[in-house]
Amino acid sequence: MSMLRSVVLGCGSYLPTRVLSNTELSRMVDTSDEWITQRTGIRERRIAAKGETTADMALAAARAALTAAGVEAQSIDLIVLATSTPDNTFPASAVSVQAGLGLTQGAAFDLQAVCSGFVFGLATVDGLFKTGAFQRALVIGAETFSRILDWSDRSTCVLFGDGAGAVVLEAQREHGTREDRGILTSHLRSDGRHKAKLYVDGGPSSTQTVGHLRMEGRAVFKHAVAMITDVIEDAFKATGYSARDIDWFVPHQANKRIIDDTAKKLGIAPEKVVTTVDKHGNTSAASIPLALTVAVADGRIKRGDLVMLEAMGGGFTWGSALLRW
Ligand code: ACO
Repeated sequence: MSMLRSVVLGCGSYLPTRVLSNTELSRMVDTSDEWITQRTGIRERRIAAKGETTADMALAAARAALTAAGVEAQSIDLIVLATSTPDNTFPASAVSVQAGLGLTQGAAFDLQAVCSGFVFGLATVDGLFKTGAFQRALVIGAETFSRILDWSDRSTCVLFGDGAGAVVLEAQREHGTREDRGILTSHLRSDGRHKAKLYVDGGPSSTQTVGHLRMEGRAVFKHAVAMITDVIEDAFKATGYSARDIDWFVPHQANKRIIDDTAKKLGIAPEKVVTTVDKHGNTSAASIPLALTVAVADGRIKRGDLVMLEAMGGGFTWGSALLRW
């Protein structure tokens, strides 16, 4: 039986030009290149320029994705921007992207699921496509975490970076089999009992301030691998695929140890894992589309490949999406 699938037409990204290395960070707080590299795999991250906002970067990534997809901005009828660092409390930064692209049709909104935002965005658009209400969407992850870091806290400020990535998704009629192109299955979870383990200590309704990121790093680490593994196994169960069938594993880029442990637990071969955390740090909702863009540009991810995406972040939120490129 035929069915609508959300097929990726192209992806693109944007990184600020300013590179902040571990060595430079070690002059700002009591840390070292060796500590950061060993514990996280991060060597450098990008930092947005003064005045450069999440919406600016999201717009640049959206334009790059449209170019890669070979479609006009005017054909987009839905924009979902996953971010925890919007330009303003409201309106959604997605409407700035919409206006920046010169669009007046369709809908645009932000989605807040912290580091899992991009996977939540893909699943949301996939569901909306199936209602028949929209045909072609931009799903964007964009963050300026540098603006919510406590730059005197060495346990968090070394981990994050800024950037944006985007994909163009199109609703296409496919055969309804697991050989179809597009999103084959997605699995979203959250558990608010863990909300104090990773949060920002400010907000419009609580403190009327923006606040700074706070994290119990060890507790997050402890939960991460088990939670991620669970939703990936859900994707395998839903499709009948297994770790051996995956061509590329593109995880949220938080920490190389979490990525390696997850791949090992699932039996995904190391050469199938796309890792960019060394160059980008943790860019939260932007990390997966940034990594996808790198792996498409260097020729690893090709049309027809089976790609597993996963993420976990504050809330906790976590999720997986399995798609054929
Ligand atoms: N440089 C040097 N020393 C440091 C630094 C630093 N930047 N940060 C902390 N330390 C010290 C601590 O003070 C502590 O010292 P002590 O033993 O004298 O008290 C020591 O290093 C060990 O600290 P831990 O926090 O226990 O170190 P751990 O091995 O757990 O590594 C880390 C910390 C890297 C944060 C790890 O817990 C982690 O990656 N957790 C996952 C967090 C994460 O990825 N969050 C992102 C968002 S959620 C997600 O996307 C999955």
